Amino acid sequence: MSLVPMRALLDHAAEHGYGVAAFNVNNMEQIQAIMAAAEETDSPVIVQASRGARSYSQDSYLRHLMLAAIELHPEIPVAMHQDHGNSPATCFSAIEQGFTSCMMDGSLLEDAKTPAPYDYNVKVTREVVAHAHARGVTVEGEIGCLGGIEDGHGAGLTGADAMAHLTDPAQAERFVADTGVDALAVAIGTSHGAYKFKRKPTGEVLKMEIIAEIHRRLPNTHLVMHGSSSVPQELIDVINRNGGEIPETYGVPVSEIRAGIENGVRKINVDTDNRLAMTGAVRKVLHENRGEFDPRAYLKPAREAMQQICRERMIAFGQAGHARRIPKATLEDYASLYQAGRL
Ligand code: G3H
Ligand code: 13P
Ligand code: ZN
Repeated sequence: MSLVPMRALLDHAAEHGYGVAAFNVNNMEQIQAIMAAAEETDSPVIVQASRGARSYSQDSYLRHLMLAAIELHPEIPVAMHQDHGNSPATCFSAIEQGFTSCMMDGSLLEDAKTPAPYDYNVKVTREVVAHAHARGVTVEGEIGCLGGIEDGHGAGLTGADAMAHLTDPAQAERFVADTGVDALAVAIGTSHGAYKFKRKPTGEVLKMEIIAEIHRRLPNTHLVMHGSSSVPQELIDVINRNGGEIPETYGVPVSEIRAGIENGVRKINVDTDNRLAMTGAVRKVLHENRGEFDPRAYLKPAREAMQQICRERMIAFGQAGHARRIPKATLEDYASLYQAGRL
């Protein structure tokens, strides 16, 4: 099988009421971990690469790793997605590299830091939609701004400022009509990275009701939750028991994500939990075996630790058991559907 358009996975998820995790990748072990978890649980897969990931791994290596993944797991439908494209040029180069989906994040200017005016967001997103849909490629847009700037991406918004940039449901409705995106990332109080909340999040900081209202207005648009790592305490404990120093911190509880899925969330972005799991595993090996210097001795447990997180999320989000039920779809099929106005 070849890579499939992300829209094919999200449409099936919407039809059957489940969500699909989108895991970030930068290297071979991470792709292997995701594919092993997908094979174990019969899950469809969304693999996503940030601009940083593409430059770290180099597009060619990444493309060939993805080709290896689909060659080794022919029964698992896999979509490859550009995470947080900062400009049409970034999205176009991803499409050129064989990505079957891209995010045009026009909620920020090209510097990926400054909140952008609505009209700018519409302009760049429309440009990407026209180019992508002609090739059958899926497009995710974003309206509203996430908090924080931990991974270098974001406006660094905190407190009242972050709350002022949450997604306005009426504007979300207008944005989808103005752009024709397939999927929409919304800001509901989360941020990227490990330091989302200082205490277990309540409705004061995590505004799940915004998702419900957007879904009411846009029942046919696939909603996307960014910053959806749960930052489990047990992963922090492994890191800290083995020489790490991660202060008390909280993420998005899986129960809240499941509530989002009930309200139209179909794509759930998870990166930090996998980073924490891999880091804990590497630290543990090196802490307990100070003479160890074979990378396989720590990368294999790291890969297994990430596989476990992926497996747990695939089961919790409901995508497990669906891989082999998803109708086969190609970019050409989707290009024809867009052209015929059927999507
Ligand atoms: O956008 C957030 C993801 O966690 C990717 O992070 O830009 O450090 O690769 P990154
Ligand atoms: P986390 O940092 O919560 O894993 O979010 C990742 C993300 O949203 C990637 O776009
Ligand atoms: Zn994100």
